[in-house]
Amino acid sequence: MENRYAIILAAGKGTRMKSKLYKVLHPVAGKPMVEHIINRVIETKPTEIVTIVGHGAEMVQEQLGERSQYVLQAEQLGTGHAVMQAAQFLEGKQGTTLVISGDTPLLTAETLDHLIEYHQGKQASATILTADAADPTGYGRIIRDHVGIVDRIVEQKDATDEEARVTEINTGTYCFDNEKLFEALKKIGTDNAQGEYYLTDIIEILKADGEIVAAYQTKDFEESLGVNDRMALAEANRLMRARINRQHMVNGVSFIDPDSTYVDADIEIGSDTVIEAGVQLQGNTKIGEDCLIGAHSRIVDSQIGDGVKVYASVIEESIVKNAADIGPYAHLRPQAEIGERVHIGNFVEVKKATIGADTKVGHLTYVGDAILGKDINVGCGVVFVNYDGKNKHQTIIGDNSFIGSASNLIAPLTIGEHAITAAGSTITDDVPVNGMGIGRARQVNKADFAKKFPYLNDSLKD
Ligand code: UD1
Ligand code: MG
Repeated sequence: MENRYAIILAAGKGTRMKSKLYKVLHPVAGKPMVEHIINRVIETKPTEIVTIVGHGAEMVQEQLGERSQYVLQAEQLGTGHAVMQAAQFLEGKQGTTLVISGDTPLLTAETLDHLIEYHQGKQASATILTADAADPTGYGRIIRDHVGIVDRIVEQKDATDEEARVTEINTGTYCFDNEKLFEALKKIGTDNAQGEYYLTDIIEILKADGEIVAAYQTKDFEESLGVNDRMALAEANRLMRARINRQHMVNGVSFIDPDSTYVDADIEIGSDTVIEAGVQLQGNTKIGEDCLIGAHSRIVDSQIGDGVKVYASVIEESIVKNAADIGPYAHLRPQAEIGERVHIGNFVEVKKATIGADTKVGHLTYVGDAILGKDINVGCGVVFVNYDGKNKHQTIIGDNSFIGSASNLIAPLTIGEHAITAAGSTITDDVPVNGMGIGRARQVNKADFAKKFPYLNDSLKD
């Protein structure tokens, strides 16, 4: 098979974004734009990938890692200049080169494959990926001659009124004969409105040399959306979200209101799970089958088993096993591991704690740095007092124990199996198996004492 190369243009600052973050690192569906690009490029199986970096070079390199080679474009003199930088890796090599911008995150690998096939079929020196745009503002226009053959690309800023009315746009993705690409790049100048080396000028140069230039038009303009400002970023997120949600629905997941459900790229969801409105599923998250993810829940970097119900809760870096239920208004913080059929109720916070199967933590409780066994009942308002101001300490509770409401469990602490803590206790010492810990002042009743406070109650009994 012939060699195939890919060049990703990612050196621009993205001035129009007005951002401290470099453009290609802005996230779409939870992943930097350039991450989407490299994943699609890899799917086309190139033998070498070269990414042109400039603004934010280190951060872009950190993002893409060893999946690409890098060239620094120290000064951003235009897209043509950017591609020229790849000469040190690719010049003179035989094969086909895909050039793609780091700011077109919606392009699919399927479209890239079609472009490459079309290019090879036409035996062209260059093939432009084009699309028909309802509003072509900001894009380069494809100018064809009277028989429809591509003549050149004109940038918005250099276009005449007539040229600006053309709706076929340059997506910024191309296929080139690699040797001819680097030959022709040497002839690009800066005689244009922006004083830049435009990659788009290469079309005219190749044509003047008698080379075949082709254009492959995708049916879907939305795929080629180029993100240059925040409006386009929002639009790219909207389109990507619709694509992601649609795929989950095809796979058998129900969405009550897909337009207001925010599922990042590469999240797995099992069939017959129902996702309600306003849900955010982020990062490296996996949801099992037959779950209900209730309205306004946010789940980040977590693994959720089958048949789990989550109501209006936040779950971060945690594991929730089958048939557990969480919330409403619970917060699972990093390293919470919730066992099968566990009930975590309202206003419960869990951090770095393992909770065994069938245990119930129903109301207003903080569980931090703890290991709880199976079938434990944790009453209302229990505080795992894990922090002495300097260090965190652990609490261990054995199976089948009963933690009375409003207990303060002062760690480090071990409570044995089948043990009890009396409601309202401050437990500072370990409680043995089958034992009861009670740590509270004895109650004293004072007869008629309330009469001293008539203003508290004007209907006191005589
Ligand atoms: C470019 C095309 C335009 C096309 C549009 C599609 C040119 C001259 N214009 O315009 O025809 O319709 O993309 O989205 O090519 N970059 C560098 N180094 C540079 C300049 C840019 O690496 O010196 C990178 C940017 O980071 C970006 C990509 O190249 O990822 C495209 O640059 P951008 O400034 O977004 O070009 P557009 O104005 O969108
Ligand atoms: Mg752009």
